[in-house]
Amino acid sequence: MTDQANHRLPFAAQAAEKLGVALYDYMIGNARDNAAGADVNEEAFSSYQLMPRVMRGQKSMDITRSFFGKTLSAPLIAGAFAGDRVFHEDGLLPIARACRALDLPLIISEETVTPLATICAEHEMSWLQLRAAGPLDRIRRLIDLAAGVGAQGIVLTVLAPVHPVAGMQPGGFSIGDELLRRGWPTIGSTSAGVEALAPFPGWDWSDLKSACDHAQSTGLPVLVKGILNADDAEIAISTGCAGIVASNIGARQSSRWVPALDQLTDIRAKTNRPLIHDGGLRYGADVVTALSLGADLAIIVRPLICALVAGGEEAVTDVLRRLSDETLAIANWCGVSSLDELRPSFVSRRYGGLLP
Ligand SMILES: Cc1cc2nc3c(=O)[nH]c(=O)nc-3n(C[C@H](O)[C@H](O)[C@H](O)COP(=O)(O)O)c2cc1C
Repeated sequence: MTDQANHRLPFAAQAAEKLGVALYDYMIGNARDNAAGADVNEEAFSSYQLMPRVMRGQKSMDITRSFFGKTLSAPLIAGAFAGDRVFHEDGLLPIARACRALDLPLIISEETVTPLATICAEHEMSWLQLRAAGPLDRIRRLIDLAAGVGAQGIVLTVLAPVHPVAGMQPGGFSIGDELLRRGWPTIGSTSAGVEALAPFPGWDWSDLKSACDHAQSTGLPVLVKGILNADDAEIAISTGCAGIVASNIGARQSSRWVPALDQLTDIRAKTNRPLIHDGGLRYGADVVTALSLGADLAIIVRPLICALVAGGEEAVTDVLRRLSDETLAIANWCGVSSLDELRPSFVSRRYGGLLP
């Protein structure tokens, strides 16, 4: 591995060795319609560069963020992934502990094996991610479960919420089959494996509204994940969602969806609600880029899975600390003393001009 690759995904080499080819390729890859190979979201980040301002006399630097009544130490969230116990015998708990120590939120996939109550007891800033598909009664039941164990909110994945067609998954691997083989149920399933949800009939905005109304009745805010179009963002907010997660779901169901990074300025123009970037974030400079383009916070997933596999809580803490330290340094060197001062003018598209 090159030094650069090592810095991008510090624990990838050890993770690859521990997981074996099939599982590592499934975890790290894009959907199989990515002929170029490189992660499409990482590529999007590398197409932007920062345009710093100098001699601005910053006396301090604040990278804390307020997020639904909580103060975060940095603009970072640990994102959702399926099948936690396949990656570590303690499942999501080492990540939950690292996030608790650093005051950062955690999003828990409904396809997690560790029980939701166990994770929420470990870390109060936990959100449950659900697939916006299947019967509404199922969603209401899972929202009630989240409210009952003290979760802080719901993340509803609306883009490609059902599993990919056979063979399209990264590495050709099926996490549902693997969990079934191991006999492990997940938070959202009633038996071993992942609850199979039919793609049709799909949800519409009135279904999303019903889910938001129900969550609201339990006191939980809903973030909608998988928004790439600014008009959709506007409708989602008017439907009752409390914020937007701009995401192409790590290009895991198709790598042809536009990277969320390229949509942030348009989405920001349509809403002043919390806007969270998801996908491809590997460096502090990426965090500063996403925030300059309009995001309030950014989600990170694959670097944390690599760290979880390689070194549990300590390694996960290491990755989050490094990102946080880099964010502070790079934002300060851009010439701001608070992340709120970041604007599109701090970003330049490689080979292009400055953004307005
Ligand atoms: C192994 C793996 C499993 C995932 N499972 C889920 C999931 O269950 N629900 C979901 O909304 N996103 C899931 N994702 C997508 C991530 O939450 C995230 O959107 C994506 O990985 C982009 O972030 P990254 O580039 O930092 O990894 C998964 C990603 C990976 C790598």
